[in-house]
Amino acid sequence: MDVFKTDILIIGSGIAGLSLALKLKDLGEITILTKKRAFETSTSLAQGGIACVMGDNDSFEFHIQDTLTVGDGICKKEVVEMVVKSAPERIKDLINWGVKFDKDPENPKKFHLTLEGGHSRRRILHVGDYTGRAIENTLIERALEVENIKILENFLVVKLITEDLFKPSKILGAFVLDLIHVKPVIFLAKVVVLCTGGAGKVYLYTSNPDTATGDGIALAYQAGCRIANMEFVQFHPTCLYHPKAKNFLISEALRGEGAVLLNAEGKRFMHKYDPVKKELAPRDVVTRAIDMELKKTGAECVYLDISHLPSDYIRKRFPYIYETCLKYGIDITSQPIPVVPAAHYLCGGIYTNIWGQTDISNLFAIGECACTGLHGGNRLASNSLLEALCFSHQASLKIKKMWNELKELKFKQPLIKETAVKEIKEEKVFISHNWDLIRKIMWDFAGIVRSLKMLEFAIKRIEFIKNEIKENWPGIYLDLDTMELKSITIVAELIVRSALQRLESRGTHYLIEYPFKKEKYQKDTIIFKNF
Ligand code: SIN
Repeated sequence: MDVFKTDILIIGSGIAGLSLALKLKDLGEITILTKKRAFETSTSLAQGGIACVMGDNDSFEFHIQDTLTVGDGICKKEVVEMVVKSAPERIKDLINWGVKFDKDPENPKKFHLTLEGGHSRRRILHVGDYTGRAIENTLIERALEVENIKILENFLVVKLITEDLFKPSKILGAFVLDLIHVKPVIFLAKVVVLCTGGAGKVYLYTSNPDTATGDGIALAYQAGCRIANMEFVQFHPTCLYHPKAKNFLISEALRGEGAVLLNAEGKRFMHKYDPVKKELAPRDVVTRAIDMELKKTGAECVYLDISHLPSDYIRKRFPYIYETCLKYGIDITSQPIPVVPAAHYLCGGIYTNIWGQTDISNLFAIGECACTGLHGGNRLASNSLLEALCFSHQASLKIKKMWNELKELKFKQPLIKETAVKEIKEEKVFISHNWDLIRKIMWDFAGIVRSLKMLEFAIKRIEFIKNEIKENWPGIYLDLDTMELKSITIVAELIVRSALQRLESRGTHYLIEYPFKKEKYQKDTIIFKNF
């Protein structure tokens, strides 16, 4: 089996992985592995922007307070403060790498700042309505210019190699499938960083790319790291509802600029659910309101209407959304957009400290796969790209500090044989059927509104699928869908088990038997550990 050696192994090629590679480029050889093409990340799909205090009437205190309020009482305050206060420096990093944020048309010396739900001030920097794509493309360009950074596409990490199989211990590298040459390979490294993004694909409807299968969380869990707060899955209120549109988000920035929600009868309804903030209430409030309206009216979608604003403005401010909707026959300058909620962001994940370090000292987790304490029970809009950026900076500082000790580590060859990897013998329909089942179970029984009965129902079914996988497809298979099925099954189980433990409604977790109360009583963090 081929064995490759690298100093730093980064798994995932979104904003977290790429920005970290750029920060560590002088330390040694950096390898970024990505299971599809480098740009196929959640970062690329982010539309809204990146939150940062910049406006004259804004302050760090306001941004901190908004983050804590939306997080519903369980954010880590020191993490929130670190992220909010370091945001301007991190934005400078992006600008220095070449990202060109939109300027204010009325004052070209300043950036244009947009508004999103839960923010008390305009503070979202953006590049049109394709901020994530602009950032991703710029960072890929910069990374490709650096000799020390290698981006390897179509490499799927299926196992972290640890010194001791039965307790959390030093990471030696990763066991990887080369999906082009259809063979297993090993990467040995001194530090491994998980930047694998979220797990929206666990749900039937999601705004996430196909790559969002929670691989990093499954890898860290199997290596013995703590996984925290998995019950907090954020559903975005407005994804395009169209039979041919797959996971297309209609950015919250539309509501920030004045778009309103209408039910099937063409009537506004948000005032009934949040009389003050209405369409700009936090995401969980808007999502539950839509869910309620759909259940009440039996309609399949609600509508987002921005057509009262001038057409030229809409086309200029939201070019990507305008063009994409037009492709599906919807002219957003004159028609309301059919929308439904969809799984969007996982607030929980691999438990890390303020340096992005997991329970294993040479394993880091950054971005959506991590649970840093920033988001608590619910994420404030446009805080996710910011978190990834701030924690890649934190991790870079820590890794640099540890480097003298880390660089002395000898590459150790693990005892894994090529024959440990198997081929799928049965028809692939067994795998795809289980994929569909998991996603439907999660949507129907562990979605926007949950009950204990639904969650119990879900766990029994997930257990069944888990056992079937264990009996029929144990170990490692040379097949992307099979290995991803294993990841989504682990993540689905963690979400449902965490949800069953949180006997209250808080943030994105709404349990019918325990509606929202002023007094919250559950412990802050619900943690799972494999061993
Ligand atoms: C959006 O543009 O609505 C998404 C922004 C986010 O998820 O933070």
